[in-house]
This record gives sequence, structure tokens and C-alpha cells, in this order.
Amino acid sequence: NRVVLAYSGGLDTSVILKWLQQTYQCEVVTFTADLGQGEELEPARRKAELAGVKPEHIFIDDLREEFVRDFVFPMMRANAAYEGVYLLGTSIARPLIAKRQIEIAKLVGADAVSHGATGKGNDQVRFELGYYALAPDIKVIAPWREWDLTSRTKLIEFAEKHQIPVAKDKRGEAPFSTDANLLHTSSEGKVLEDPWEQVPDYVFSRTVNPEDAPDTPHVITVHFEKGDAVAVDGDPMSPATLLAHLNELGREHGIGRLDLVENRFVGMKSRGMYETPGGTILHVAHRAIESLTLDRGAAHLKDELMPRYAELIYNGFWFSPEREMLQAAIDHSQARVNGTVRLKLYKGGVHVIGRQSPDSLYSEKVVTFEDDQGAYDQRDAAGFIKLNALRLRLLGRRDR
Ligand code: ARG
Ligand code: SIN
Repeated sequence: NRVVLAYSGGLDTSVILKWLQQTYQCEVVTFTADLGQGEELEPARRKAELAGVKPEHIFIDDLREEFVRDFVFPMMRANAAYEGVYLLGTSIARPLIAKRQIEIAKLVGADAVSHGATGKGNDQVRFELGYYALAPDIKVIAPWREWDLTSRTKLIEFAEKHQIPVAKDKRGEAPFSTDANLLHTSSEGKVLEDPWEQVPDYVFSRTVNPEDAPDTPHVITVHFEKGDAVAVDGDPMSPATLLAHLNELGREHGIGRLDLVENRFVGMKSRGMYETPGGTILHVAHRAIESLTLDRGAAHLKDELMPRYAELIYNGFWFSPEREMLQAAIDHSQARVNGTVRLKLYKGGVHVIGRQSPDSLYSEKVVTFEDDQGAYDQRDAAGFIKLNALRLRLLGRRDR
């Protein structure tokens, strides 16, 4: 029997690797995804080899383009934000990791998969809903829910006993837990657990403090086709390249920091700090291009559906019929979402300062307060208001 482990190469999943070999006497296959977390991945290969994983059973895949093109962008079309603000940077990566893990399991003939998410969080749910949707009979091993390594100290003892390298700063308490990819970095736990305590500066890894950002604003343009960003400042870019580029601009201007207390699917509240530099710029830009190109009815319906869609992604239901239904409706709405948005980046803020589109529904001729030369007949408004007022007047006569 074989098990495919989602392996970061970090301390926790290295301990899991050894623990799986010991506890289940099984052959472990490791899968490490490059989602743009900005870490060297070759050390993961060496560590896996050191732990006795066969070279042909070490998978290290660059999934950056697929991640942005097939997961981040479809979600951006919906303007998805969980509880109004969280841009779902961790949530949206999990279904892709699960999908590739199942592909690898089929490739190597494994009957089980394993991950390093704890029994307290959302990630276990997201991974496993993905596994079961794509491989209904797969066996899932979630070591954090099974083993007796219930403290950091026990974990490190286990690591040392099995010659797993432990970085110096991990010997004491790790100051917090992070998850990073091209879309965001999230930090939770430890020093962040008291929601009243301000997040210390050292937690931030991909944005400058807005107070230290340049004093001169930076103006950029983002060009959209069918609801997806395709160029920045006129330069066409692939999805992952574009997001990486916006991340650099966002970093410099301190954009996309979010300190949030959120409701986890399992029922508890948690406090996290998110940094979503490029994603925040895209989110603002996409809403701006929709403001010109979407009809009011479609736009408002999208806004009503958005919280449901965001919750589905947060709760791990990417591979569900209801998410696919909503996605079809959202994608359909994007057919004419084309054009360019001009934005000013300044000290943590993203400000829309211009937008234009060949598919614009905005009519200067109709809206102008100057002479509209018959484009709009103001007299029509009297009847429009009178019929809308009819029931209010009937009510008013009865009740007032
Ligand atoms: N609370 C975020 C979510 O559920 C992030 C979870 C993972 N983050 C972490 N630091 N381990 O999407
Ligand atoms: C974890 O529990 O592994 C991370 C936090 C979460 O999934 O919500």
C-alpha cells in the first residue's frame, strides 16, 4: 500500500512523512506543489530522498499558471470575498493541490492520500472534500487527528529521534503558522491569537508598511478581456506573470493587508493576518471594469450571488454542482467585460481614477447635465415616478 502525501518539506510534513512510514508501514509518495510560495523546492526533494522516498516517487510540480488561470481568475470574476473582505487566498489553492494529489495517486497506484492540516481548521475539509469528490473510494490519513504528538515539544522530540533536520528557530515555539502562494500569505496562531493585540511587524512578509510606502503615487493600467486581466500598462502577460507583477507593485505600496476575525467552517472563530497585494489590486480593478460594462440587473444579481459563491469556496466545495452552476452564470456575465482601468497605488490604497471600454454601457450623451439633444426625455420620469409611487400613496392614504 502506498500513500501520496502533500509535502511542503517543512518540519510538520517531514514528521508526518516519517510517521506514515512507521505507523502504516507504507510506501510514501511525496507531492510538492509550486504555487508561487516563493520557496526553494529542491530541499524538499533532498529531504524526501533522505527519508527513503524513491526518486520516482518524489513529485515536484510547477502549478503556478494553472493555479492563477483555472482557480484564481474564475474566482476573481465573481469578485469573491468571504465575510465581505477575505480574498480566499488559501481556500482557492486547496482544490488544486487535492486534484493533483489524486492524479498522482492514480499514476502510482496509491490507495491513500495524506495532508498536514490540523483537525481544527478549514484546510482539512477543503483537501478532503476535493479528494472524495475526485476519488470517491480513496483512503484519507490526517495525522494531526490521529497521532499523540500533541505539542510542539513532542513533535520536535520525534523529529530529533528520527534525524529530521529541525531549523534553529523551530526549536522554541514557532511564532505563528503561515500559508503562502501567488495570491496571498496568511498568518495565524500563537502571537496572533489574542484579537486585541496588534500584529507585530515581523509577521508581514510581502508588503511594506503603508506608512513607509513611497510618498509619490504610482499610476498603472490593467486591461481586461472577458473578465480576466490580460495586460498591465499595455504589456500582455500570462495569468501567473501578471499576478506576480501586481504583487511586486502591491508590495512596494503596502497594498492588501487585512487583519480579520473570521468564522471557520468547523464553527470556531479565528484571527488571521492576510497579505494579498496583487489580488487586492485585481479585485478593485475588476469591479471597476464591470461598473462600465455590466448591466445593472446582471451586476446586482452577481453581487447577491457572491457571498454564496465565496462561502462555497471557503468551505471547500469547489468540486460541487452548486459551485459549478454559479460559475457558469458568472462566466456567462463576463462576455463583454472588456476594457482598461486606470488605478492609483498610494500608501496602502488602490484608487480607481479612470476606466474605458469598447463595450461600455455608459452614455455621456444620456447622462449629461448639459443639453442632451433629445437623448433622454425628462418628462418620461414623471410617469415613472408616479407609477412607482402608486402603492406608497394608497398606503399613505390608509395609514397616515
Ligand atoms: N483562515 C484562512 C483560510 O481558512 C487561512 C488558513 C491557513 N493558514 C495558515 N496560516 N495555516 O482560508
Ligand atoms: C490548519 O488547521 O491546518 C490551518 C488552519 C485552517 O485550516 O483553517
